[in-house]
Amino acid sequence: MRTTVGIIGAGPAGLLLARLLHNAGIDSVVLESRDRAYVEQRQRAGVLEQGTVDVLRAAGAGERMDREGLRHDGIELRFNRRRHHIDFPALTGGRSVTVYAQTEVCKDLIALQLKEGGPLLFEAEALAVEGAGTDRPSVRFRHEGREDVLVCDYVVGCDGFRGVSRKAIPASLSRVFERTYPFGWLGILADVPPSHHELVYARHDRGFALLSMRSPSVSRLYLQVPADTDAEEWSDERIWDELERRLETDDAWTLRRGPVTQKSVTPMRSYVHEPMRHGRLFLAGDAAHIVPPTGAKGLNLAIGDAVTFARALVHRRETGSDALLDAYSATCLRRVWQAERFSHDLTAMLHRDPGATPFDRRLQLARLDRISSCRAAAADFAEGYTGFPLD
Ligand code: FAD
Ligand code: DHB
Repeated sequence: MRTTVGIIGAGPAGLLLARLLHNAGIDSVVLESRDRAYVEQRQRAGVLEQGTVDVLRAAGAGERMDREGLRHDGIELRFNRRRHHIDFPALTGGRSVTVYAQTEVCKDLIALQLKEGGPLLFEAEALAVEGAGTDRPSVRFRHEGREDVLVCDYVVGCDGFRGVSRKAIPASLSRVFERTYPFGWLGILADVPPSHHELVYARHDRGFALLSMRSPSVSRLYLQVPADTDAEEWSDERIWDELERRLETDDAWTLRRGPVTQKSVTPMRSYVHEPMRHGRLFLAGDAAHIVPPTGAKGLNLAIGDAVTFARALVHRRETGSDALLDAYSATCLRRVWQAERFSHDLTAMLHRDPGATPFDRRLQLARLDRISSCRAAAADFAEGYTGFPLD
């Protein structure tokens, strides 16, 4: 098999990249190890930055998002039982975010790819990237019980944190920057209308809680839990009781409870692999970097990498210049590190760290107070939340 761009992984990065290349008249093949139903059901992120919304729309993948996505003009920060609204458009010159689940973004992009784009093979597992340092890199993969080779001009590894593509970069050239956290998030989906029209990020002495949503009738909620927690230790009633305590306010706000339809624990990690390119192998999305979920940056970073690669390849076709491909890693990493900083700082400000001193806890409250009372601090937060621009 032969193609211009071999794409490993049909998550948001790989699917959007295939769509952007198709729109530019560049052929690609996508290899995805899982089946279609698995990729379409996997519960993950839920918040699209303004720039991500713009990119999906421009790629012709925004029709259902525009109909069903929920535009959010702010969030609520909750601490010391008080509620503070952060008004994004007022602080950023009109920017907002859209609540539209990653599952739905993937469903829309898969449907488009199968209808209009190049091959997208499910249950096709990449085993190794070979010849990354040559001008004919290839992907060895297994599909329908047989091993095959996909010969490419370029390979883009969009195969997530546990994929194979990062391993093709020689260890002597790799640098890894990493932090793990002693806590994770217990996330639930519940068939109940959201208890507030905006997302609520709550800092509480018992730990962090987040109220989010998937639609006007489905709530998504998270609780900070110790890193090694088994979701089955938490009965539905215990989860609702704990959410109620951490989200408590001094006014008449109440939490609506409903049937829990899904429950799982997400570990938290900050991770960056540098560089994001070796020869003709490019890494995009979680294959190169992970952020803790606080602030919902992971999916948006993956989209940014895909856009940056597609632009660079189109530039090469139009001008013959490799300049943007050569700049790919540095261009992406600049934005990645801003998102790493933002996600780390928001995590530190809102979570209960078992090693924290009373002094540390007072600093958390002082930071929250600053964002809630100082326009410049709120504007910096709102710019980060609604998204750092693509270069
Ligand atoms: P992925 O979505 O991971 O896609 C990679 C794809 O590659 C997968 O489909 C995988 O099956 C495939 N693949 C892997 N190995 C191979 C192989 N060898 N051959 C072929 N295919 C392969 N972000 C948020 O902002 N908010 C959240 O609440 C949130 N929750 C998350 C919960 C979990 C459990 C995880 C893992 C991540 C979460 N994230 C969240 C992060 C966000 O979902 C990711 O940043 C985003 O999915 C990155 O997209 P991607 O395309 O880079 O990678
Ligand atoms: C969601 C996830 C996040 O990490 C976040 O900061 C906000 C919302 C969500 O899944 O809805």
